[in-house]
Amino acid sequence: MSTVEPSIFGMPVTVRLAMKMEDALQAIAIRAACFIGELEVPFSDEFDGHDYGATHVIAYLGDEPIGAVRLRWFGSVAMTDRLAVLQRFRGHRVGQLLLERCRVLAGSRGCNMLYAQVLPADLDYVGKQGWRRLVPESDGTAEPVQIVPMVTATDPSKPPSEVAAPEVVILRPGRQLGSREIPLPRCSS
Ligand SMILES: CC(C)(COP(=O)(O)OP(=O)(O)OC[C@H]1O[C@@H](n2cnc3c(N)ncnc32)[C@H](O)[C@@H]1OP(=O)(O)O)[C@@H](O)C(=O)NCCC(=O)NCCS
Repeated sequence: MSTVEPSIFGMPVTVRLAMKMEDALQAIAIRAACFIGELEVPFSDEFDGHDYGATHVIAYLGDEPIGAVRLRWFGSVAMTDRLAVLQRFRGHRVGQLLLERCRVLAGSRGCNMLYAQVLPADLDYVGKQGWRRLVPESDGTAEPVQIVPMVTATDPSKPPSEVAAPEVVILRPGRQLGSREIPLPRCSS
């Protein structure tokens, strides 16, 4: 995994948190293009009611938003989801940069773990970023899983194998893409 800051056409990629509604709309526009337009995810699955309470992390090339990810807060665990990079800006490590910023942000807010629910097609990508599965790989006899829970420590010096998943991180069986609710405790603050 490269630690060099990505640049595209000689311009550095920067990352900022959404601070106002217009910023959040940029994240939502990117997700609409990638998930609804490109991947044909239904609108009601993509916009699931969790966007107002979430932190939106956005990647920019100059002033142009080119990628985004959403962070939700559950005590010592932060959940990343809806990672998307506009198609024409892929392959420049923008996705990696966004996940890395989530790690730093979550660590700075006292979380010790990042958690994600990952579709089978994305397992290699997320694994490449140093995340590990919480459930073992199927031996082919069980029903194919639709979503795989994955975690990584916010402290990069900790190998993923040592990240102890809290017992509260449970995946409800048989849920579809749009129902990615997990029974994690809410922050008390
Ligand atoms: C998945 C996605 C966010 C990757 O964004 P990106 O900025 O192009 O990815 P990066 O450039 O950070 O990739 C980092 C590394 O992962 C690799 N990679 C990219 N997509 C991959 C995939 N689908 N499977 C496995 N590896 C992948 C890259 O080759 C690169 O490897 P390298 O460091 O050895 O060169 C982007 O393809 C996307 O927006 N897809 C549509 C939305 C989506 O599927 N989101 C779910 C993501 S979990």
